[in-house]
Order: sequence, then C-alpha cells, then structure tokens
Amino acid sequence: MLSIVVLISGSGSNLKALLEATENPLFGAKIVAVGSDNPADGLAHAERFGVPTFVVTPGAFNSRDEWAEVLLANIKHFNPDLVVLAGFMRILPPNFVRALSPNLINTHPSLLPAFPGAHAVRDALEARVSTTGVTIHVVDEGVDTGPHIAQAEVQVQTDDNEHDLHERIKSVERELLVSTVKAIAAKTITL
Ligand code: GRF
Repeated sequence: MLSIVVLISGSGSNLKALLEATENPLFGAKIVAVGSDNPADGLAHAERFGVPTFVVTPGAFNSRDEWAEVLLANIKHFNPDLVVLAGFMRILPPNFVRALSPNLINTHPSLLPAFPGAHAVRDALEARVSTTGVTIHVVDEGVDTGPHIAQAEVQVQTDDNEHDLHERIKSVERELLVSTVKAIAAKTITL
C-alpha cells in the first residue's frame, strides 16, 4: 500500500477526491497526513476522514529555507512513499525538493510547459488559447518544470471567465490525479 502525504493551500477539492478514492481498497494507496502552509479550508476534508493534519506557516520563520526544513520534518515524521502537492501554492526550495525527489508530484491547471506559475488559468484566458488543461508532473527545482507524468485537455469556451474555466479544469484534474496516483501505487507509472 502506497502511503501518501498531501500538501494543500486552499479548498482541497483534489485532496477530497483522493481521500474518497482511498475508500476503495483497489486504489492501493492511503493518505497518512495532510499538510498546509496556512489554516486552509481543505484541512477539514482530512479531519472528516480521520487523517492527521499539520500547518507550517512561512511567517513563523526567518527564511524560506527554515520554513521548508520544518515542513520537511513534519512530512518525514509520517515516512510517506509519495508526497502530492494538490493546490499547494508555495515554491519549495531545492533542499526540500532534493530530499523527496522523485517521489514528489504536483498538479497544475494548464498544459505545461504552457502557463507555468500561480495564474495559469488567467494566463490561458489572456492568451486566448482554445485548449488548456491539466498536467501532473514530478517536481524539480524549477517552477512547474519537472517531467510530465499525465496530461488532460480542457476546451476553453468563448464566454469563460477565470472561475468557470478553473472549475471545469478542476473536475478533469481531480479524475486525472486519482487515476495517476492509482497508477503510481500499481507501479504502472514509475517516477
Ligand atoms: C488546482 O487547480 C491546482 O492545480 C491549483 O490550485 C487548484 C487547487 O484546487 N494549483 P483545490 O484546492 O484542490 O480545490
């Protein structure tokens, strides 16, 4: 059974999809803890499933490196096989990435390498592309630059705003994340 720590920053709908997937024994993975950089709403999903949570806020530290060290120590306490960034909106320093690589994956709401960074959906709308989507990738030391594991397309509608498009991307993203983690647990995807 693949053990996973999930990191979130927001509403945690991707986390919720993963938690629900773990209810099926055929999923092959369990979530052993959920961490966040803030008291995020999404932590409630973990609490509902009886999964331990931790919050490590950058503001409590003198530097990003110190913050990331404590975040890493919290993760290591649970000794996971895989760490999933599911809407975790912080850039992680190289030492953190190296400590977990390649067992550190991220989900991003665009077809990378198009539209990396924190405003992928807005950037896709501004660029007037007709197709965007979601990418799940191994995290490397860059921002959204690591090797891709899975991608899925989403069509942009002419009347889309950022919220509506992001919601449509997220419904595809949740399915892709669940199927990708299942494939990692089954070793049909090797990181
Ligand atoms: C997802 O689209 C993720 O890719 C992006 O932020 C969103 C998080 O959504 N970075 P949620 O918190 O899982 O609902």
